[in-house]
Amino acid sequence: MSENGSFSDLEAIEKQALTDIESSGDAATLDAVRVQVLGKKGSLKQILRNLGGLTPEQRPLFGARANEVKEKVQAALDAARARFGAPAQNNKSGDPGADLTLPGNMPERGSRHPVRLVSARMIKIFASLGFEVADGPEVEDEWHNFTGLNIPADHIARDPSENFYLEDDLLMRSQTSTVQVRVMENTPPPLRIIAPGKVFRPDTVDAAHSYMFHQLEGLVVEEGMTFGHLKSTLLTFFQQLLQDDDMKLRLRPSFFPFTEPSAEVDLYWRGGWMEMGGCGMVDPNVLESVGIDPERWTGFAFGLGIERVTMASYNIPDIRYFTENDVRFLRQFS
Ligand code: DAH
Repeated sequence: MSENGSFSDLEAIEKQALTDIESSGDAATLDAVRVQVLGKKGSLKQILRNLGGLTPEQRPLFGARANEVKEKVQAALDAARARFGAPAQNNKSGDPGADLTLPGNMPERGSRHPVRLVSARMIKIFASLGFEVADGPEVEDEWHNFTGLNIPADHIARDPSENFYLEDDLLMRSQTSTVQVRVMENTPPPLRIIAPGKVFRPDTVDAAHSYMFHQLEGLVVEEGMTFGHLKSTLLTFFQQLLQDDDMKLRLRPSFFPFTEPSAEVDLYWRGGWMEMGGCGMVDPNVLESVGIDPERWTGFAFGLGIERVTMASYNIPDIRYFTENDVRFLRQFS
């Protein structure tokens, strides 16, 4: 292009613009052409600022010709835009408008937390065995957390290093067994309840321990309950949960103040033994402390770690994954 405006330069601008419009493959490229030619600093504006090489007679002709080029280019742009399905530009601001052909932004969808998911599954299975869901407070008094459960005043489980004590005689409950006491206080037997919920202990956090985790407590108080009923209940539960004949259940002799006899609940699955919780026959002292006649009523109880059950179900190696809120982990359960 010569330094001063000339008719041949106008022709060149028009030709180039029409070729560029013809070959542009999308709305963005098209818009770039528009800015380059018709924009404030575009080639057409530029050339009209440089009319020094024209005679006074030529100038209006040149202006008219420039207008023609502008309209032709504008028409070609509109036609091409329609080709892409984008709205034609019909405002003076130069805003091409929203491109309705672009894909939308999908909102991120959350998913249920694995502990919630497994907890719901556990509740469903126990409900099919006749258990009702009960609830109790996370801030408890010492009576429901210890005394009512036959845990003596000098027992190590009451030690300040084992519990989150609050003011007065309150603490964050260290076990869901508290709900056993609360239910038996308020409801006469026969009873068949489960109580899922959070428990709190000042444990050092590692792959298997956390300061907060979930337990699912179970309690049955009926006439003539035996250790056989306890074992068959837990066995049926794990069989239904895991749907796998290679699973084994072992009740290993143990001690809890609120059950006699007591046992640890061990699960063998995928080649290894894992501890899932504790269980036993409700100690007569516990029944007496809530005014239930132990000569007539017998019961069994169990407490399962929901994180433990979840880790077994999904082969999760570390309890810390549950509270890290890493969506790469959580998304796998949607
Ligand atoms: N509460 C016990 C714990 O936190 C677990 C437990 C053991 C619950 C035996 C029970 C039971 O109901 O019978 O370790």
